[in-house]
This record gives sequence, C-alpha cells and structure tokens, in this order.
Amino acid sequence: MWEKILKSTSINSCKDAIASTLHQCRLGTLALFEGIDDTAFRRQAHPDFSPIGWHLGHIAFIEAYWILERCAGLAPMFPQYHKLFAADGLPKCERENLPAFSDVCDYLDTVRSKVLSYLETAPLANQERLWRFLIQHESQHSEIIAFILQLQRWHHLERHQEMWVRGRAKPLPSDLQPPTEMLEIPAGEFEMGNDSIDALDNERVLHRVYLDTYWIDRYPVTCKQYRVFMEAGGYQNSQWWSTAGWQWLQENPVQEPLYWSFAPTWDNHPVCGVSWYEADAYARFVGKRLPTEAEWEKAASWDTRLGCHRTYPWGEASPQTHHCNHDQTTRQTTPVNAYPAGQSAYGCYDMLGNVWEWTSSWFDGYEGFVSYPYRGYSQVYFDGQHRVLKGGSWATRPWAMRSSFRNWYYPSIRQILAGFRCAYDADGVK
Ligand code: AVJ
Ligand code: FE
Repeated sequence: MWEKILKSTSINSCKDAIASTLHQCRLGTLALFEGIDDTAFRRQAHPDFSPIGWHLGHIAFIEAYWILERCAGLAPMFPQYHKLFAADGLPKCERENLPAFSDVCDYLDTVRSKVLSYLETAPLANQERLWRFLIQHESQHSEIIAFILQLQRWHHLERHQEMWVRGRAKPLPSDLQPPTEMLEIPAGEFEMGNDSIDALDNERVLHRVYLDTYWIDRYPVTCKQYRVFMEAGGYQNSQWWSTAGWQWLQENPVQEPLYWSFAPTWDNHPVCGVSWYEADAYARFVGKRLPTEAEWEKAASWDTRLGCHRTYPWGEASPQTHHCNHDQTTRQTTPVNAYPAGQSAYGCYDMLGNVWEWTSSWFDGYEGFVSYPYRGYSQVYFDGQHRVLKGGSWATRPWAMRSSFRNWYYPSIRQILAGFRCAYDADGVK
C-alpha cells in the first residue's frame, strides 16, 4: 500500500520536474528571439548553420515527433512542417523560406500543450530517458541559436569597425595576470562516461580508463598568451602546423581567431573562435599538445581522494551562476580565473562553461555503444572526421553541461565559441 503510494508520488514529482524543466528551458530559448527582426530570423548567417528560425521550428518538430507521434501514437498535427523542420529534410541552404516568427511560436505552443497533457498519463517508467533527451535536445539547439546570434552580432560590429568590442556587455574586471600554471595528474585509473538517466547515447557506458601521468593547463589558453603566437608569426609559419592544418590555413587565410580583439581588456579571457587546427598549432608553438578527451575528463571529474567521479568539476550540485559562466546570462566570455568555486578536484578552472575546449580525440562510440534515440543522433558522426569538444560555453544550458558531455565538430569550424587548454606528457614535452 505505502509502497504503491510512494511510487506514484515519486513518479508525479518526476513528472513535475520534467514539466518545469521543459518550461525553464523554453523561456531561455524564446528570450534569444527578443528584438530579432524577420531578416535575422530567416537569414542563413553561415553555410554550416541553419537560420535561427529553423532551429526554433525544429525544436517543436522533434518534440511533436517523439512524444506525440511515437509515444502517444497521434497523427502528425502539422504535416506541412515535416519536410521543412526534420533534420534530414532540406539542405541547410534551403531553410530560409520559413513561416513567420509568430507562426513558429504557435507551432511550439500547440505542440507543447498537447505534450504536457500527454505527460499527465504517460508511462514514465519506460519513457523517462526520452523526456530527458528532449530537454537536452532543446538545450543544444538553444545554444546553437546563441552561436548564430554571436556570429551575426560579430559581423555587424565588424561592419561598423568597432574592433575594440568583442561582445556587447561590459567585461568583468580582470585583476590577475594571465595564469600559466600546469597541474600534474598522477597515473592511475578513473571512470569515464556516464550511466545516469540523463546520459546521451555517446556518453554511455561508464567505464574505467588508465592514464599515465600527464600535465594539463590549469586554465584555458588566454588571449594574452595566444597573442604571443600571433606576434611570433604563428599564422605565417608552417612549422607549427599539422599538414592538414597548414593546408586549411592556405585555403582559409585567416590571421587571428574569429572573435578576436587586441584590446587589453580581453587579456585574461580565453581565446575564443579558433578551429581545431589553430588550437593544435598554438599547442605545438608552446611545446605542448592538446589533451585527449580522456585526459580532459579525468582532470575535470575524477575525485582522487574519494576514488569516484563527479558529475560536475565541483561535485554533484547542479550548475549555479557562481560555479561557471554558462546559460547565456553573461552573453560573453569571462576571465579564466573568475570562478574559483567551479574548480575540479585537481584544481582546474573553467572546465565547464566560458568556452568549449578542443581535444585531440576523434569522436567515436565507447565500447558497447548503442544508438539512442536514433542512429543519426551520434553514430553517423563516428566517421573519423569530427573532433571532440568538452566543457560547454557561456551559451550552454545547464541541462547539457557536465564533464561527461561530448560535443563534436569538424576541425575547421570556428563559429562555435571554442577555445582550448594544453597538456603534455610527464616524461617530456610532446
Ligand atoms: C552535438 C551540437 C553536434 O548540432 O548536430 C541537435 C546536437 N543533434 N539535434 C548537432 C544535435 C541533433 C549536435 N551537436
Ligand atoms: Fe536536432
């Protein structure tokens, strides 16, 4: 009797939590559209990204498809949107012909109210993972919308030659010198991945990995540090670049990161807007290398004293504003030493939030990988062409930010708010 009541109360509180998280997530998504005009809504800001309006419609499409069609067994409510908003419908360059913002909002609201009434009687015991996936799916598209807005804002600023501005808000004070410390991570096993209900297919399963002793930067590489590379002719000298990297640079003759400013205000901010090739070249320039994903994750999540992994560098508490720069509240980077409360057990700063960090690892499935909820979510990217990024950026929503979270992009991409930190072997550099 009691057991039954307890079980139904816990299912109900779980449903309440899902409904309230869906709502919180949606508020942030919609806030991104404040003051956006129709042109910005439907324009493709970059060939690798869809218009922000497409992302908004796609969020509703995925929710309708997985919950209303697949779980509730309802007929498609907006069949006219299927081709447009499905991820495998139209090529990215044909996604500019969108309904108006208000129509997309109607689509979102209509789907959401059906979804919430279905949730009341949904068999959560076998659906919880899907509902949690849904929250993370919207979180990720919400972040991509923020990437695109940053890109549009940047183009706009460049056109107005306000080169001293890297973001719109006033930078936080940066009192300390750019830190250069490295931390020694002693040899031993740690637990990599994630087996919680929130874990995406590519994070599963939790598995033990042994690593030799290595060193890793305590902070992400700052603008001041990166400037040394630029001033030493980093972009003009092939000796620091991989073959693929030098070839990329010849085809894309850039001379600085995408979101770059020479203003000293940014000295202690992480470098942001670099491709994997630039990150790799800088690491070689300073006699180091990029960390592997395992090295990054151990430094972020392993608690040597307790012999267990932490969900977040600071422990199990869900991310708050004092832990790290995330959830689109600052709308820009912050100095790399601004969040002492977010340190990992080893003492690394800024492992989560601020900027994504490139690793040297190719994106691939862990042993025993099983696709969920569909092959195209992760598995089609196990192609030896995508590098893993860890940690999240200032635009990452809290539900998609944890040490085990894996992001992946082509090494040439620069539009995703990515920086990096370096590592090296214990027995010498490289
Ligand atoms: C993990 C950001 C690379 O954008 O393709 C969204 C996230 N997958 N909908 C992507 C995703 C399906 C994914 N990234
Ligand atoms: Fe998607």
